[in-house]
Amino acid sequence: MSTARHYKIGLLGCGTVGQGLVELVNRNRGLIRERSGIELSFTKILVRDLAKKRPGVDRNLLTIQPDHVINNGCDVVVELVGGLEPARSFIQRALSGRKHVVTANKALLAADGFALLNKAVSQRVQFGFEASVCAGIPIIRALQSGLVGNSIRSLTGILNGTCNYILTRMADAGMPFVDALREAQGKGFAEADPTLDVDGYDAAQKLKILAEIAWGGRIALETVQIEGIRNITLDDVDSARKLGYAVKQVAHAEFNDGGVSLSVHPALLPMAHPLASVRDENNAVQVKGDAVGEMFFHGKGAGSLPSASAVLSDIVDIASHKRSLTRISARAVPVAGADLPYQRYLRFPVGEPSAIGKITSALERQGIGVDRAAAIWAKTSSEQSQVKFVTQSCQADTLRAALSMVSTLGLLQGDYVALRLAA
Ligand code: HSE
Repeated sequence: MSTARHYKIGLLGCGTVGQGLVELVNRNRGLIRERSGIELSFTKILVRDLAKKRPGVDRNLLTIQPDHVINNGCDVVVELVGGLEPARSFIQRALSGRKHVVTANKALLAADGFALLNKAVSQRVQFGFEASVCAGIPIIRALQSGLVGNSIRSLTGILNGTCNYILTRMADAGMPFVDALREAQGKGFAEADPTLDVDGYDAAQKLKILAEIAWGGRIALETVQIEGIRNITLDDVDSARKLGYAVKQVAHAEFNDGGVSLSVHPALLPMAHPLASVRDENNAVQVKGDAVGEMFFHGKGAGSLPSASAVLSDIVDIASHKRSLTRISARAVPVAGADLPYQRYLRFPVGEPSAIGKITSALERQGIGVDRAAAIWAKTSSEQSQVKFVTQSCQADTLRAALSMVSTLGLLQGDYVALRLAA
């Protein structure tokens, strides 16, 4: 029997994912040894509070000194602190010391991934970040290696577990938005600042990371058109269901006319669409490649062990010398502002439901045909009357002009909602 090669992990951060990693390494150490010939162990683990209870974590490994992790004879530094600083400085110090690095830090990658990857390449060390997007789903590996022979046409995904959890609970349990968000926070999916989830920034960071790999160049986060899910009500989710649709937060990147258009937005998806049946905190990505056609990846996109699974896959790959250095070229990927026509669901809060006639006329004057229209009278004084429309296909520019015209009619009693009927 051949002897296993020892491989030492220096761990920065022992929160939800860090503790998951310790648990998974302890649980599957023998399995990993059998599969890869690598025997994993931890050298030191950076924490903020030495006294805090961390079941299953050897207290003797804990330190509050980052250098005791980074410069303590480990083979790979795993950064699970999160956020921009001090995570960025930790990673830079590790790379300067020619340590391989694994991180789950999507915010840092979206902000500085290119510089960190370049530094790793120039130091001739590996930089793994599989856990940064869709946690347990090996989508980064799929794009980097499994699908490397394809020209990618589009990526369409549910990339934020918190939004998907909220929209699932609203649809299945009739739970109001704020209560569903509170549940997601209780389950540990939501960001420390949940506005990053519900306003679409977390999904935009992940979409940028995937798109840079798929199209092999740099993409500015500001080129992602972002729309959050805060204005979606139980009534919207219910109306969508009656029309045969599910409301989902969708992240979409598509190559068209020599450029990539990127957006994160809530949309009504037909129930038969593969993303419509993605539930709870699950994530999914539909990839279209010129050779492979359509592929669908689905699984747990957040949480302790699913994230740890992705971190561990990077560690074992690096330890087994299975990875080639990840590169993103310095060229900027051309961005396309494709304005494709879509059918839309529109809801306007109004004082008088008879406003339906005036709003229909305004939409039609801008060339937006109305397929269905409904007026809903408020039943109690705490409710608001609404008028709702499903339009024929129209471009975003046309819709913008029509919505601004409706806003000037003096009929609206709050914010309107306008959602695509497609991913
Ligand atoms: N807040 C993130 C989400 C965590 O809800 O998807 C995983 O990246």
